[in-house]
Amino acid sequence: MLLEVKNINISFKKENQKTIFGKERQKVVKNVSLSLEKGECLGIIGESGSGKSTLGKSLIGLLKPDNGSVYIDGIDIYNITREQRKKIQQIISIVFQDYTSSANPRFLVKDIIGESLKVLERKIGKKIDRYSKIKELLEIVGLNESFINRYPHELSGGQLQRVCIARAIATEPQFILLDEAISSLDASTQTQIMDLLKELQNKYKLSYIFITHDLPSVTYMCDRVLFFYEGEIVEEVNDIYKLSEVKNLYAKRLLNSILEIKIDDKK
Ligand SMILES: Nc1ncnc2c1ncn2[C@@H]1O[C@H](COP(=O)(O)OP(=O)(O)O)[C@@H](O)[C@H]1O
Ligand SMILES: [Mg+2]
Repeated sequence: MLLEVKNINISFKKENQKTIFGKERQKVVKNVSLSLEKGECLGIIGESGSGKSTLGKSLIGLLKPDNGSVYIDGIDIYNITREQRKKIQQIISIVFQDYTSSANPRFLVKDIIGESLKVLERKIGKKIDRYSKIKELLEIVGLNESFINRYPHELSGGQLQRVCIARAIATEPQFILLDEAISSLDASTQTQIMDLLKELQNKYKLSYIFITHDLPSVTYMCDRVLFFYEGEIVEEVNDIYKLSEVKNLYAKRLLNSILEIKIDDKK
């Protein structure tokens, strides 16, 4: 098992409390358990504000849950030595939705990817020819050498997301968290990026957690799906072809809204 999450809870201090000593907390993630096998793509779908990004952060070591545990490769990531932390960091990558905030706007493409190559050098314990590695990575994500000296604002949304994917795979991770990674793109670019992600997943035997509020992309990408509602897993669909059998009301509502859109398209 690559990732195993056991009964995690996450809460934040509520804002707008009458006194600064207010102790009320907003529970954002409630008793969540899940697991991810090597090479698997697990979808987490839920509406905006349901706590998906908060959960995602806790899965990759960025946010310690109030209680419960997160194991990556058998290591309890919130209870580890510095050496183990380094090892974990080399296993994980992340791609966010908002590429302009996840990629420093003042960095050239070569610097954005170069950051990851420093991590890779530490991991393999030797210097690499950065320029040729960056060129190679760009080609892997479908971009050519001419992008090396461009700034983020000189790229289309899809191109910049390809750069972010190159940055994510540069460290040779085993597991990538994709948090609304395609949500800001138009439909045809979304499909292209999902195809790229699938191709990379096969090539490098990657595991993905694919966080989204969008059902069609989940059915396109994922092997299994967790339906997330107000911080809880309310439905789990292990066979993506059985999505139509989901019992939970919320899941059904989502599903129906998609089916209605499909019917409307045919008019
Ligand atoms: N650092 C934080 N401090 C306080 N509240 C937070 C913080 N991060 C997220 N929240 C709250 O947690 C809830 C879930 O947010 P989020 O995980 O971003 O949801 P989603 O990704 O599903 O849209 C929201 O109500 C949000 O305001
Ligand atoms: Mg989010």
